[in-house]
Amino acid sequence: MEIKFVENKNPKTMPAEDTLGFGKYFTDHMLMMDYTPDKGWHDLRIVPFENLSIHPACTALHYGSEIFEGLKAYRRADGEVQLFRPIENIRRMNNSAERLCLPEIPEDLALFALTEFVKCEKDKWTPHKKGTSLYLRPFMFGNDESLGVHAVKHATYVIIASPVGSYYKEGINPVKIMIESDDVRAVRGGTGYAKCGGNYAASNRAGKKAEDKGYSQVLWLDGVERKYIEEVGAMNVMFKIAGKIVTPKLTGSILPGITRKSCIEVLKKAGYVVEERLLSVDELGEALKNGTLEEAWGCGTAAVVSPIGELCYKDVKYTINGGKIGEVTQKLYDTLTGIQWGEIKDEFGWTVVVK
Ligand code: PLP
Ligand code: COI
Repeated sequence: MEIKFVENKNPKTMPAEDTLGFGKYFTDHMLMMDYTPDKGWHDLRIVPFENLSIHPACTALHYGSEIFEGLKAYRRADGEVQLFRPIENIRRMNNSAERLCLPEIPEDLALFALTEFVKCEKDKWTPHKKGTSLYLRPFMFGNDESLGVHAVKHATYVIIASPVGSYYKEGINPVKIMIESDDVRAVRGGTGYAKCGGNYAASNRAGKKAEDKGYSQVLWLDGVERKYIEEVGAMNVMFKIAGKIVTPKLTGSILPGITRKSCIEVLKKAGYVVEERLLSVDELGEALKNGTLEEAWGCGTAAVVSPIGELCYKDVKYTINGGKIGEVTQKLYDTLTGIQWGEIKDEFGWTVVVK
């Protein structure tokens, strides 16, 4: 497909790299593409970053027909910029599209669009400092101009980009997490495995309650029995219990994280036993009490690996690994970020250089 380019004649200044935070600044351009039943995907374009103009009856505004992805472009020491497993994000977005009745994007078209956009923004906007990157946010929304509730016919696809530092203000320092026993993030048969905006809207109340009590995020339990551990905030979660790595299996209400998948591959290669299975909060509580819970961490693109130093369940606080980052958590962080920033050899073939 042809791609049109309209240059931004009022370019911004790249902010100082130690002030980036997460998702506060946006680059000079954005990529857009439209879908209609007669033309399919068409009008692929890179245009100046600007507000969108949408009809007040737009489907996404009323019925939540919106999906998104998150991946990063990393600057290597030699100056090249690379993506981490972009095809995984493209496939997951198509799975989300299928669930929400939005149009899928052929993989080669999605990869072409992403790469062209990164080529356009990377030199100016990919920061250099350790721990920084250019966060890419592809998203798609239903754009029918009518209030009927139906599978979407018209859709818009956009990619925006934001130079970012660390997601949590704690950086790689351990965070405090509260186990949430009332609200649930998603249910089996619902949209938990899809990356759709509504899942995040539904999670905000519990997240706010945790923050108000001095915690960074919540540990989600399953929606049927409030018994099995699912995710932590907007990340997958892993535990080291008596020497083995345990992570909740993908039951349909959990987002299949690309960092999760990568952690499992790195850990298995390093010889660890990794169990993807149901893990009940009672089993976790027992491991906390008898000292066999050796490490706990969240994993996701934004924070990469985020150690959990304290867990609160039913108002009882438990410290994990003395509140310090554990050995496996640190090793995973070093391996993944080492591959992402091109500091160690990518033996897995995960990185894609954009030239
Ligand atoms: N779980 C949720 C709910 C998320 O939003 C994310 C972030 O994308 C993840 C897990 C981690 O997924 P990934 O590692 O692909 O970023
Ligand atoms: C992640 O990348 O881990 C996320 O969950 C992104 C978040 C901002 C939705």
